[in-house]
Amino acid sequence: MTTTLIHGGTVISATGRQELDVLIDGETIAALIQPGSTPFGPGLAENVDHLVDATDKYVIPGGVDAHTHMQMPFGGTTASDTFETGTFAAAMGGTTTIVDFAIQTPGTAVLDTLGQWHEKAAGNCAIDYGFHQIIGDVNADSLSAIGQLITEGVSSVKLFMAYPGVYYSTDGQILRAMQRCADVGALMMMHAENGIAIDELVAQHLERGETSPYYHGLSRPWQLEEEATHRAIMLADVTKVPLYVVHVSAKQALEQIATARGNGANVFAETCPQYLYLSLEEHLGAPGFEGAKWVCSTPLRSRAEGHQDELWRFIRTGDVTGVATDHCPFCMKGQKEMGLGDFSKIPNGIGGVEHRMNLMYQGVVDGRMSLERWVQVCSTEPARMFGMYPRKGVISPGADADVVIYDPHARTEIGLGATHHMNMDHSAWEGFSIDGGIAVVFSRGKRIVDDGTYLGSRTDGRFVRRGVSQNLI
Ligand code: URP
Ligand code: ZN
Ligand code: ZN
Repeated sequence: MTTTLIHGGTVISATGRQELDVLIDGETIAALIQPGSTPFGPGLAENVDHLVDATDKYVIPGGVDAHTHMQMPFGGTTASDTFETGTFAAAMGGTTTIVDFAIQTPGTAVLDTLGQWHEKAAGNCAIDYGFHQIIGDVNADSLSAIGQLITEGVSSVKLFMAYPGVYYSTDGQILRAMQRCADVGALMMMHAENGIAIDELVAQHLERGETSPYYHGLSRPWQLEEEATHRAIMLADVTKVPLYVVHVSAKQALEQIATARGNGANVFAETCPQYLYLSLEEHLGAPGFEGAKWVCSTPLRSRAEGHQDELWRFIRTGDVTGVATDHCPFCMKGQKEMGLGDFSKIPNGIGGVEHRMNLMYQGVVDGRMSLERWVQVCSTEPARMFGMYPRKGVISPGADADVVIYDPHARTEIGLGATHHMNMDHSAWEGFSIDGGIAVVFSRGKRIVDDGTYLGSRTDGRFVRRGVSQNLI
């Protein structure tokens, strides 16, 4: 087996930082070694197959992005990153595991759709991947399949309170699905926006001739996210299911989650870099049709209302459990432009799987959170939340050797002409500049990225069979 020693770096975990050498043997971490100690006898550095210098750099567990949509059929088109292009871009950005969504829709069987997603991903991923299951039609058959999902290593189910006529579930369907998830030990993930009320607002804006991307934001006000979040929390309380609210963007929705957590409930929040950095005014409100780049749901929120600062605060308080990308990319040409003259026809989604680790590191530089919290929200907590710990999310003997060497002295310019490997004709993050950068990425012991060069194979990724959540109170 190939041995690698990562030498001279500072290992950052969710709970602390320490100068340690990391010994990798084959696909897993073999040991963490104090500088100067010789548990394997003197001369280890000379005897390993590869010696990697991490002096003045951070050594962190590979990123775990628990919310992506590779090649998702949505809004009359398909997300532009395939499993191959999207996982390659993720690897370039220091993410070594994604959890994507298999999608069941009316007229299809849950386990058949899971099988289809396996076919799309198998042999086409650069990094390891797992699946959540979207249930777009809650009925006796789909409810019954939830038990089998757990056996298949798919321990989380996503429902939608938004998108009537597409993925939407009624409160009754949600209640029944929550009961079933609670019975079998599955985690309930929720897209919490009041889709019925939103559709009325959308129709009213269009009737008034308000068709630009900005009105996407105005038709999905924070009150309808807060209301749905509260409703989901109450339904979860009645059914005693653990609830993970995805892509939270409104500070009021997070306050609902923080209150529930304060009461001891198994309620968790995910947010995304776009809600921390981008805004309704500057991005959705960009001139002409430009704002289409940032049409996603939940929408970007008003900076004047202070959502972004509050979301960062909730990252510090621990009420945000994980930061994922909700990577759902669409090109402007031929995709986003389907909504020229009608914002409701713009496919919803932003691409960012490549930039999450860097964007969130900038939060450390800007004094928004600690190095440890960076590792915790980007890697350790997503791994624990979704039943992959301690195989993923930690640098510890026995764990998969998914390791990133991060250079705090580097600079990363983000944009189409710079660091961008996603299959998109624009970047939602054009012009962002990061005070740090990805130096080396290991995926299960194999060095797949070195100083911006891809050394891996886009077929190396394996399916991760997940257990039940390890993050329940
Ligand atoms: O706009 C988004 N979020 N697109 C992806 C689908 C979803 O709701 O997560
Ligand atoms: Zn969603
Ligand atoms: Zn999503």
